[in-house]
Amino acid sequence: MNKKVVLAYSGGLDTSVCVKWLADRGYEVIAFMANVGQGDPSAAAVRRAKVAGAAKVIVKDLREEFLRDYVWPALAADAVYEGKYLLATALSRPLIARHMVDMAHAEKASAVAHGCTGKGNDQVRFEVTARILDPGLKIIAPVRIWEFRSREQEIDYARRHRIPIDVSKRSSYSIDQNLWGTSIESGVLENPWIEPPADTFRSIRSPQHALAKPAYVVIGFSRGVPVSVNGKALGAVALVQRLNALGAQHAIGRADILESRVVGIKSREVYEAPGGTILFEAHQDLERAVLDRQVLAYKRGVAAKYAELIYEGLWFTPLKAALDAFIRQTQRRVSGRVRLKLYKGTCQVVGRQSPHSLYRERLATYSAKDQFDQRSAEGFIKLFGLAYEGAKKGT
Ligand code: ARG
Repeated sequence: MNKKVVLAYSGGLDTSVCVKWLADRGYEVIAFMANVGQGDPSAAAVRRAKVAGAAKVIVKDLREEFLRDYVWPALAADAVYEGKYLLATALSRPLIARHMVDMAHAEKASAVAHGCTGKGNDQVRFEVTARILDPGLKIIAPVRIWEFRSREQEIDYARRHRIPIDVSKRSSYSIDQNLWGTSIESGVLENPWIEPPADTFRSIRSPQHALAKPAYVVIGFSRGVPVSVNGKALGAVALVQRLNALGAQHAIGRADILESRVVGIKSREVYEAPGGTILFEAHQDLERAVLDRQVLAYKRGVAAKYAELIYEGLWFTPLKAALDAFIRQTQRRVSGRVRLKLYKGTCQVVGRQSPHSLYRERLATYSAKDQFDQRSAEGFIKLFGLAYEGAKKGT
């Protein structure tokens, strides 16, 4: 086996040290930077990988693919983990892993590597995906096995090898960011009683600093996919960027959660997903208008399962594909517009419209326009309750 490895490289301390550590062990390192909207992979990061000993640095803009093939299906599914997490980090992992495997094939590398620790979910997602796609590739996780016991030791090592690390820029949190949201953890957040400090607001304003006046926004959907903002058709990336900016001004999309990790640990996480929250609220509301109650209720169960599959890194699995077929069928009706009001941290749907809406004013109204036959209710209720007549006795 050759000693060529494709490393998922972020430009941060851990993965920069990974480059050097792998190179020291005789590996030819291809550093792969996926642009999923975390802010432009900077020239400095590319240079850092080279200085650390990467044979090659490959940067790929995966933003469009991320939204189209990963985020939109999750939105269609209404996937949210443990009631709060819109899965931004989790959704990016199968995408990145898939590209790593493809790159390993193209470059004739025998291994893939990542900079995740042994305590988190991301290692599971990267490795399970890589194994699903090519069980023959070797997987290397330097952080799980290397000799450094603290960040200070890593920084020392980086300094000794003249890897340019800007320690002053380091935040007191571990942060992962992409177009769909920001994940913030560790530091003082490890005490679950402490309110997240002001400096944990990364991509949005806090409600105190939000704009003083509410904003209204109209989202257009076509078959479950968001396609316009305020009547203007937008591509996926521009649409999410637009809503992120708008949501950020109004402090939309924060979550503070004690979360159940795959490896069994409960951890405290803070999330921000301004655009994601607006789209999630809008999409769910439109579904309430166009889907009948059987499909709606069944779909809630599917949503929870789908979220669990995403969270656990089981994206490329048969169950996920089967659920996609169900979800796709339901989304054929999910076209229309939803109007929302954003104000100081709240995101409320205030209107909806659809050619497929099941709402009939002539049936719902209490005005003179009423066409509902109230007399037919009597027989319906008798039969509906028949099985339970007298059933309270003996319980
Ligand atoms: N707990 C979240 C998840 O498992 C976020 C992980 C964030 N990663 C990070 N490097 N901060 O999806």
